[in-house]
Order: sequence, then structure tokens, then C-alpha cells
Amino acid sequence: MLVLGARGHAIELLQVLEDNGETDLYFYDDVSHDAPNQLFGRYPVLCSPTEAMQHLRHDSRAALGIGGGRLRERLGGQVRQWGGQLHSVVAPSASVGRHAVVLEAGLNVMHGVLISNEVHVGEGSLINARATLHHNVVVGRYCEVSPGAQLLGHVRVGDYSQVGAGAVVMPRIIIGQGATVGAGAVVTRHVADNEVVAGVPARPLPRKS
Ligand SMILES: CC(C)(COP(=O)(O)OP(=O)(O)OC[C@H]1O[C@@H](n2cnc3c(N)ncnc32)[C@H](O)[C@@H]1OP(=O)(O)O)[C@@H](O)C(=O)NCCC(=O)NCCS
Repeated sequence: MLVLGARGHAIELLQVLEDNGETDLYFYDDVSHDAPNQLFGRYPVLCSPTEAMQHLRHDSRAALGIGGGRLRERLGGQVRQWGGQLHSVVAPSASVGRHAVVLEAGLNVMHGVLISNEVHVGEGSLINARATLHHNVVVGRYCEVSPGAQLLGHVRVGDYSQVGAGAVVMPRIIIGQGATVGAGAVVTRHVADNEVVAGVPARPLPRKS
């Protein structure tokens, strides 16, 4: 499998992949000029589209190993152009409901996550360690639910939004597209598209000029 990214989140994803028994792993980083050619002296780091395409001909599975919804979407598009297929990685310690759960392609469901029944997670989203998605939650495409965030029943999160670490989103709250919820927030009101909210209770942060 090819992991897109070779730092930060990719290093965390490596732990999940190894715990899933994946050993034939390659990483991809064409951005860092000082990227090592191996991770942990063991996993090759490819750094050109040609190498990535060659690898995907042999094993078409690719996982997103970076944070940030828009970047994840761009890399997902690149994978498809190169002939690869976006693969979802689900940690063995994640608890995923057995009823009416839809998990689209290209997800990262990290260690200790709870996904309850009747939950939908859109393509390319990252559900980070110990986050909880309760019944009837809908998470859009290319979202990021950060470590320990709690989305309570019937919460909806629009495409490209981020819910910060440890935030609690109260039942039935709707978070728009491209919105950001700060770490530790308690969200008691709907959040508009592209709005940034933080605090307890969460309030909009002034826009930076
Ligand atoms: C909310 C957030 C997006 C704001 O980022 P920002 O626009 O760069 O804002 P700044 O850091 O300039 O802070 C602006 C103000 O908001 C406050 N603030 C920032 N984050 C806050 C938070 N999570 N809760 C409460 N207040 C917060 C700052 O103290 C500052 O207040 P001040 O103007 O009185 O000094 C960011 O701080 C955050 O919480 N991101 C989520 C991070 C996360 O969980 N990452 C997970 C990675 S795995």
C-alpha cells in the first residue's frame, strides 16, 4: 500500500497499518526537500509521481496520510490520476456499528474511535484517535474530526470542516461546510459555512483580515 505523506499524521497512520498486519508499505513525499529515503530504516519513501505510478501498478491501494481536508482531496485526486484506488484504513481498536453504517473510501479511522449505528462518513475524512460519532451522525467529505472530539446524536458536519481536539458538539447541531470548531469547544448552536467557533459555549471568532 502507498501512504500519501511521510510525516506527522503518516507516522501515526503507520502504527494503525502495522497493527492491521500491513507490512508492504511505501510512503510518498514530494514536498519535503530533506525527506529521508526510508522511514524508520524500513519503509521506502517515494518522491516522484513516476515512482508512485510504478508502485500503484503493482499494488493499487493508496491511503491518505496527511491532515487537512482540501489537501487530502487534492492528493486523493492525484491517486486516481495515477491509476490508484483510495483505500480506507480502520484501526483494529475502533468500534464500528453493524447497522446502517456507511464509510466511504479514503478514510482514516484511528485508534479508539467509536462509530455508532446509523452513521455516514463521507469520502476522505479523517476520524482521529478516540473521537466518538454517535447515532445518526453524518460527517461530510474530506472532514477532520480531531482526537477526542465528540459528535453527539444527529450531528451533521459539512464537507471540509474540522472539529478540534476534545470538542463536544451537542445533539442535532449542524456544522456548515468549511467550518472550524476550536479545540475544547462545546458547540450549542449551529455553525455557519466557513465560520470559526471556539470556547465554552462556542462563539464565532472574529475573522482575520
Ligand atoms: C480555534 C482555532 C482554529 C483558532 O485558530 P486561529 O484562527 O489561528 O486563532 P488564534 O490562535 O489567532 O487565536 C485567536 C483568539 O482565539 C483564542 N482561541 C484560539 N483557540 C481557541 C480555543 N480552542 N478555545 C478558546 N479560545 C481559543 C485565542 O486565545 C485568541 O484569543 P485572543 O484574541 O483573546 O488572544 C484554533 O486555535 C484551534 O483550536 N484549532 C483546532 C486545533 C486542533 O484541534 N487540531 C487537531 C490536530 S490533530
